Amino acid sequence: MIKTAADLISAGEICGKRVLVRSDLNVPMDFDGDGTISDDGRVRASLPTIQALAEAGARVVVCAHLGRPKGAPEARYSLAPVARRLEELLGQPVSFATDTVGESARSAVGGLADGQVALLENLRFNVGETSKDDAVRGAFADQLASLADVFVSDGFGVVHRKHASVYDVAQRLPHAMGGRVQAEVEVLKALTESPERPFVVVLGGAKVADKLGVIESLLKIADTLLIGGGMSYTFLAAQGYEVGKSILDTDRLDMVKGYLRAAEESGVEIVLPTDVVVATDFSADAEHAVVAVDQIPPDMEGMDIGPETSKVFAARIAGARTVFWNGPVGVFEIAAFAEGNMAVAKAVVAVTKIGALTVIGGGDSAAAVRQFGFTDDQFGHISTGGGASLEYVEGKALPGLKVLED
Ligand code: 3PG
Ligand code: MG
Repeated sequence: MIKTAADLISAGEICGKRVLVRSDLNVPMDFDGDGTISDDGRVRASLPTIQALAEAGARVVVCAHLGRPKGAPEARYSLAPVARRLEELLGQPVSFATDTVGESARSAVGGLADGQVALLENLRFNVGETSKDDAVRGAFADQLASLADVFVSDGFGVVHRKHASVYDVAQRLPHAMGGRVQAEVEVLKALTESPERPFVVVLGGAKVADKLGVIESLLKIADTLLIGGGMSYTFLAAQGYEVGKSILDTDRLDMVKGYLRAAEESGVEIVLPTDVVVATDFSADAEHAVVAVDQIPPDMEGMDIGPETSKVFAARIAGARTVFWNGPVGVFEIAAFAEGNMAVAKAVVAVTKIGALTVIGGGDSAAAVRQFGFTDDQFGHISTGGGASLEYVEGKALPGLKVLED
């Protein structure tokens, strides 16, 4: 059993302690504009754990990453805007350290009274955070650990990463799992171990290569896979269709053919698009048209599932008792190609209302539903970690969870 932050709080072990909380505050930022946060879902998702610890009298030291800077400070990846957002949402001051383990961090932490909160600058400004060298990571983890008495792991989006603030620091401090990670793991456990049937999966996203392991696992546990988005063109090509300029992974055609055969043998239904929206290029003002999948023009690329496919996907979702959606089925960022994701989102919302367990597997699919104006409570669960939830579904041992076991 992994100890939880709630256990520590109810045992009265927290008051006056410095608690290092690893959160996932990796929010999408509008870099071209003024550096504002375009979706603060992860900040909101991180609040309950931070709040509960602060209320219990802990001196809360939050640490997190933003983007993928290469081990040195880069202004555009500063967590400063996130500190301000956290402050607004918490309704209390957040003391922001302009470094991770240096002078500023020590003074921010040293200045905390019981119940107060600090946020350290982007962990990935330090090479030690993501280093493959255990000693380099360990040295950074030593410094992080020296800032606290207890560690709480609450960054679900990074539990699959063997990083200093996720893995090594847990070996240096008494540790517990935060409420966010706990909630995510409970849902994924239900999804993979005892899904109510029919269990329908919507898989999308640009690259089939990112989803190979998860397809293999899902072929063993799901009843139906609805495949859309960039990855669907490799499936269509495997069935002999010409896909024009659409994204195609020729190296993985044979593998995909194997999946189609395996699905047939095990009675798992794979539903591919029958029509698609094609465009002359990947842009908002590109000429576009709806065509049947056997009519994709050689000089055009697929951008979205077509209306007939949307109807079929929606009908399958409507009949499900469990739904897992990972990856957009079209380029939802461009209005002309957002219909497919909208149809999927509406169907998922409707089936949630009548009691199905619905899980949105993070990242882009979560951004899509929020962009459409849906609220988180219209879905069963919106994961904060796309990569982490996929690795969990694939049955991989996540290092950040493993290390929390005593
Ligand atoms: C994410 O955005 O998926 C998580 O925050 C993890 O980020 P990473 O993929 O850069 O490790
Ligand atoms: Mg990711």
